[in-house]
Amino acid sequence: MDTQTWTAPHLKRLESVNDLLLGIETSCDETAAAVVRNGREILSSVVHSQASLHAVHGGVVPEIAGRSHLEQILSVIDQALEQAGLGLEAIDAIAVTNRPGLIGSLLVGLSAAKTLAWTRGLPLVGVHHIEAHVYAATMERELSETEPPYPCLALVVSGGHTALYRAKSEIEIEPLGATLDDAAGEAFDKVANLLGLPYPGGPSVSRLAEQGDPGAIRFPRYRSDGERPAFSFSGIKTAVLYHVRGQDALAPTPPPELIPDRADVAASFEGAVVDVLVEETLRTARKEGLETVLVAGGVACNRRLRKEMTARAADQGVRALFPSPSYCTDNAAMIAGLGFHLLRADRTAGLDLDASPR
Ligand code: KG4
Ligand code: ZN
Repeated sequence: MDTQTWTAPHLKRLESVNDLLLGIETSCDETAAAVVRNGREILSSVVHSQASLHAVHGGVVPEIAGRSHLEQILSVIDQALEQAGLGLEAIDAIAVTNRPGLIGSLLVGLSAAKTLAWTRGLPLVGVHHIEAHVYAATMERELSETEPPYPCLALVVSGGHTALYRAKSEIEIEPLGATLDDAAGEAFDKVANLLGLPYPGGPSVSRLAEQGDPGAIRFPRYRSDGERPAFSFSGIKTAVLYHVRGQDALAPTPPPELIPDRADVAASFEGAVVDVLVEETLRTARKEGLETVLVAGGVACNRRLRKEMTARAADQGVRALFPSPSYCTDNAAMIAGLGFHLLRADRTAGLDLDASPR
């Protein structure tokens, strides 16, 4: 287990408002807390990753996740305050992820947030995890650069989600379409497993792909019917399975050293996934007449996706914005950031705020 910490460079301040929010995030397998001023200036962001606890199981085990959040939450909150150089008395409001996610995980962050809000008499804001991922793509930028980023298209691409949204503002986001089967990150994780690479699969497949030829194997690419936006990754995943095991899909997976073209498989798989993501996103941007695309979620760390989306978007006059890699994956800065806008819109919650898996 490792605890990563960082403080982002200071950004332009909105002098008129001075709201310091403490953000708390425990929806999946990272315990995170952050202090953010005015929804933009990240004073601290602490993320405790449980990846090593789940790696032996090849995926997140909800029971283990909930217990680990319970062990870490108070220390992570303390570290976030300490690194911001602030005591709890300086905080103006608490923002917490209350949906969607693993119930046993969400409840830990939610209970901590409610307790702090009640004891300090602070406003409480419930934040939608996916909407916060979208917000992350704008929060590290100079205001002039992103003005006006809305309305825009948002692609959220993670281990649990691959979906397109139309964002009218920070807090008005409507779904346009999603994957019909696996999330892109889930496909990365499954292919990593097939190639004998460690969990989480995205970074390890991507690292191996750098040594391979993305044009070596032509894996199938899903194209939607052009009406409702949609993605699909199960066809690519099955094609990789047949490629590695031969035509007998029930045959055992050969040991990694007996897959001669492992790097080419990784590169060709990554190339196919990126192509599907970029093609459908940019087609939707054209159809919806949107000139900015925000890309967020763990898979937005992927270098090939960042490069191809940026270049192909520019070809059609569209601007693609990504968070820096630390803010693509789960973090609490995005929760405090979006929480600020919800607070300004009076979208505060009571102590009956509930956790929801959806
Ligand atoms: O957003 P996230 O941290 O958690 C949720 O799923 O909500 O995303 C984690 C996912 C994992 O499936 C992981 O394999 C993938 O993001 N991922 C990547 C990369 N880094 C993380 N996928 C492809 N390339 C990467 N560099
Ligand atoms: Zn996430």
